Amino acid sequence: MPQESTPRRESKRTVQQMVVVGVIATAAGIALGLSIHWFPKAASTQADKIDTLWDVLIIATVPIFVLVAVIVLFSILEFRMRPGEENLDGPPIHGSTRLEVIWTAVPAILIIGLVTYAYIVLHDIEKAPAAGNPERHVAVTGQQFTWSFEYNEGGKKFTDAQLYLPVGESVKFDVRSKDVIHDFWVPDFRMKIDAVPGITTHYRITPKPNAIGDHDIVCAELCGLGHAYMRQTAHVLSKPAFDAWVKKKTTSAKAPAGGAAKGGAVDAKAIFTQGNPDTSATACGTCHTLADAGTTATTGPDLDKVLKGKDAAFIKQSILQPNAVIAPGYQPDIMPTNFGDTLSAQQVDALVQYLSKVTNK
Ligand code: CUA
Repeated sequence: MPQESTPRRESKRTVQQMVVVGVIATAAGIALGLSIHWFPKAASTQADKIDTLWDVLIIATVPIFVLVAVIVLFSILEFRMRPGEENLDGPPIHGSTRLEVIWTAVPAILIIGLVTYAYIVLHDIEKAPAAGNPERHVAVTGQQFTWSFEYNEGGKKFTDAQLYLPVGESVKFDVRSKDVIHDFWVPDFRMKIDAVPGITTHYRITPKPNAIGDHDIVCAELCGLGHAYMRQTAHVLSKPAFDAWVKKKTTSAKAPAGGAAKGGAVDAKAIFTQGNPDTSATACGTCHTLADAGTTATTGPDLDKVLKGKDAAFIKQSILQPNAVIAPGYQPDIMPTNFGDTLSAQQVDALVQYLSKVTNK
């Protein structure tokens, strides 16, 4: 004969309590979930749709989490073993077809609904602009440990270490990698995609009118020692400001950085800001701050500071053998070690002269 157990509470009352606790916890959970600012500023039209999707997911998932948590907690409380029940067995339970149908059908309907909505959002944010609205292409190239951006404006191609975009116009990024897998991410735009060697990946965004200003570009795939420093800036400009920037870039490009190769004098400042497109030498300004060149990057040391008072030999060594002397607070193996190959001797000497001059003023 089974022992007499302590009488359980009336089950109807228990269910009522669970419902009350569940409703309060759900309301509080949804209110909390919607009031937290999970994401940075939304700077693209795509970002709004993604943020709305997130809110819908919170509204859909908090009640399910609360349902499961409340049933588990009440079960632990109500059906725990009390003293004297050590040898007691629970009542035999048989299957309940009705229950099984409900707990299979409800989640299935919910998942189908969410998947459909998510697919519509995905389709929406990847959609090309309507016919007749031209789309800008920017080729994004990742390499250890920098991004470069190639523009094609009015048939003129040029490269820059920073991303410039006009507000309100769709842009499609063609993302590539020169070495390992990187991931091109502008959190304010919400979209991100891997840069994979050997293939070209894409996504498009349209900067929102209130997006004018600077936005961080981040590498979101662990790609080596300098991964954390692989950060640049996306500048969203008004249309006139963007056009002025393009004009400046396309007219100054008449004196190409690789000038020496064409017999002209080497423009060291151009090499500093644009690199050597012929050999894909990275622009120094991608990583370094230099007041004279107008660069403000912080991946590598601030050259106005670390080169002050240094002689030409030190500067030359720093370019050709960057690991020989590492500035305090920085890591070795981040700066490329191949500038002896990607820059001509003439270009290196011009850079050394230029850097020596502008950092020792
Ligand atoms: Cu490139 Cu991480």
